[in-house]
Amino acid sequence: MSVTVRVPAKVNVQLAVGAARPDGFHDLANVFLAVGLYDEVTVTPAAELKITCSGPDAHQVPLDASNLAARAAIALAARHGLAPDVHIHIAKDIPVAGGMAGGSADGAGALLACDTLWGTGASRTELLEICAELGSDVPFSLLGGAALGTGRGELLEPLPVGGSFHWVFALADGGLSTPAVYGEFDRLTAGTDVPAPAAKPELLAALRAGDATALAASVVNDLQPAALSLFPALARTLAVGSAAGALASLVSGSGPTTAFLAKSAESAEEVASALLASGTCRAVRVTSGPAPGATVVAPAV
Ligand code: C5P
Repeated sequence: MSVTVRVPAKVNVQLAVGAARPDGFHDLANVFLAVGLYDEVTVTPAAELKITCSGPDAHQVPLDASNLAARAAIALAARHGLAPDVHIHIAKDIPVAGGMAGGSADGAGALLACDTLWGTGASRTELLEICAELGSDVPFSLLGGAALGTGRGELLEPLPVGGSFHWVFALADGGLSTPAVYGEFDRLTAGTDVPAPAAKPELLAALRAGDATALAASVVNDLQPAALSLFPALARTLAVGSAAGALASLVSGSGPTTAFLAKSAESAEEVASALLASGTCRAVRVTSGPAPGATVVAPAV
């Protein structure tokens, strides 16, 4: 008896970052778009909580209680007076430490999988609440589609999207720590007046219309200067994608994965080939978004 949940990666088409708050977090206007790269999280009853992981980057995934999947199981079990005795297996396809919310995806996936396995019947609201306790990006991994995240990114308002967008992702050699990138943002903006973050109306309109050219004209990631400062080689990857015809080239979230919006599936393949041939990244992925949020694919039998 086991339950498998499929959960998507995300790209931030707008990441507007405000000044650091007293609690150390930053207020955001975070426009998330789920894209079709997925982790699959399978939970099976076991003698005790245990995590395993498979996939090309599996060796980089922590298998202890710091893994958001473990924390999700523990949090749900604690609320319902259960023991979190499950084997959680993560089939990992989302880049690790890449700025695509791979760890958050596993948290949301494990939460939905355990809820289904244990029959806890948690409401959507309770699941989203637990997700928000686990991390700023975890609620969106559960929701999928597109959404505006405010607060530290956890307060979500679903957004309408009028079409599918073609994306290429270039995986970098190495990772970036999210707190380190926010720290670098603070250093770079020290002494300046950081405006309150706000979603751009023209960007929301472009999403609603499914208009890739208009979306490309308005994408913006306020963490990009900080990510480039810590990982300067990403500038070359971005330049290669733009030269190959990407409508927009940007760092995904806190990086170091870079994201390229293409005008068509054919153009996406061309951008991907150019990126691979350039030697400025370790791998490329071609996909599209929006993608659905966490979904049970193989229920308990
Ligand atoms: O919420 P999460 O655990 O994903 O955040 C990881 C780190 O990213 C935080 O400890 C903080 O340093 C930074 N962060 C932030 N402001 C946010 C979200 C994350 O400063 N809105």
